[in-house]
Amino acid sequence: MDGHHKRGPRGPRPANRRSNRPKHRGGYWSNKRRQWRKRQQGKMEAQQVGAKDEEELYEEVEEDQEDMTVSHLADVEYFEAYDQLEVHALMLEDSQRLGSYLAAIRAHDLKDKLVLDVGAGSGILSMLCAKHGLAKHVWAVEAVPGMARMAQQLVQANGLQDKVTILTGRVEDITLPNKMDIIISEWMGFYLLHESMLESVLIARDRFLRAQGRMLPCSARIWAALVEAEDLRLDMANYEDFLGLDLRLVGEQQLAARTAEPRVEEVHGRRILAEPLVAVDLTDLHQLRVEGTRNLEAQLSFRTWRQGYAAGIAFWFDVGFGRDVILKTDPGSPPTHWKQTVVYFGAFPAVESGDVLEANVVLKQSEENPRQYNISVETL
Ligand SMILES: C[S@@+](CC[C@H](N)C(=O)[O-])C[C@H]1O[C@@H](n2cnc3c(N)ncnc32)[C@H](O)[C@@H]1O
Repeated sequence: MDGHHKRGPRGPRPANRRSNRPKHRGGYWSNKRRQWRKRQQGKMEAQQVGAKDEEELYEEVEEDQEDMTVSHLADVEYFEAYDQLEVHALMLEDSQRLGSYLAAIRAHDLKDKLVLDVGAGSGILSMLCAKHGLAKHVWAVEAVPGMARMAQQLVQANGLQDKVTILTGRVEDITLPNKMDIIISEWMGFYLLHESMLESVLIARDRFLRAQGRMLPCSARIWAALVEAEDLRLDMANYEDFLGLDLRLVGEQQLAARTAEPRVEEVHGRRILAEPLVAVDLTDLHQLRVEGTRNLEAQLSFRTWRQGYAAGIAFWFDVGFGRDVILKTDPGSPPTHWKQTVVYFGAFPAVESGDVLEANVVLKQSEENPRQYNISVETL
């Protein structure tokens, strides 16, 4: 039995991971982070001059900092990342993503409907609902003030100010004058769950969606496929006989380093060794509990199509909007900015055609940073 426990990728969208440019530090969420740090420091100093037993103080401060790390700092860092226009530009340029949302907006009759856009960013979905869906009114909620301002300017530039209202704040904290007919949101992260934004959308559903109201998207699935990685395997094999020398030690350490974390990459279809399987099926987001995605487990049984060397499991997702509109991110569909996420075994077991490889997959929200997941793959 083999266990591969990996922490999910970092950063919300690829632009953030790729960028070497200095981060914009003046934003609301950056300032908030600085304030928290200062406050924590101040508390420590104040406590040091107090009368309490030193050990007791230490424990309190530790607890305080742990609290901050989990409940606030992860969110502050998360929203900070969305304070970068390049992340939004990357999403705007993903034509598969927006094409599916536009198809969904057109497929559902939004005329005379009240719409809530959770996490409006640049305001693109809100504007599409108003312009192409002819929605009665759209409430666009965005937590990052800089982006909310940008959305406001874009709404005005398109003459949609009577149709779209921008609200700055977390959807968990705002109030709305009416119940909504539709909630639209683009909440999906790498392998669907990274970022944990779905929880905010489900909270919004419970607070604001009228009975019989509709979620866009309304279903989601995570797919898993057994894949090979011949480039990586052959690179590592080179170390076995390197100019006549045995450098396997370097190869082993290189492999461990390169497979320590899940990798977001474009997986070519020819790397797939067995029929992809559905690992998680969220069939109805109208019914899903808010905490329903914090700890998911799947037992998968891959029957290989051909001989090869298994290198890991690739994950991707699709989301359904109803009326046959599906946004797909599989290797065979046109590429999206989500690409695929591969959890590597760190070894390359040989498989023959028709072999069965059983794997137990656990996706567990990280307690240290609830915006991330720990992904564990156990091959049996
Ligand atoms: C993936 S982006 C999508 C932006 C835009 N809807 C689009 O499709 O281009 C998610 C956005 O949701 C915002 N967001 C995430 N959680 C939120 C929350 N709880 N309340 C308000 N905004 C949130 C983020 O700041 C980010 O701008």
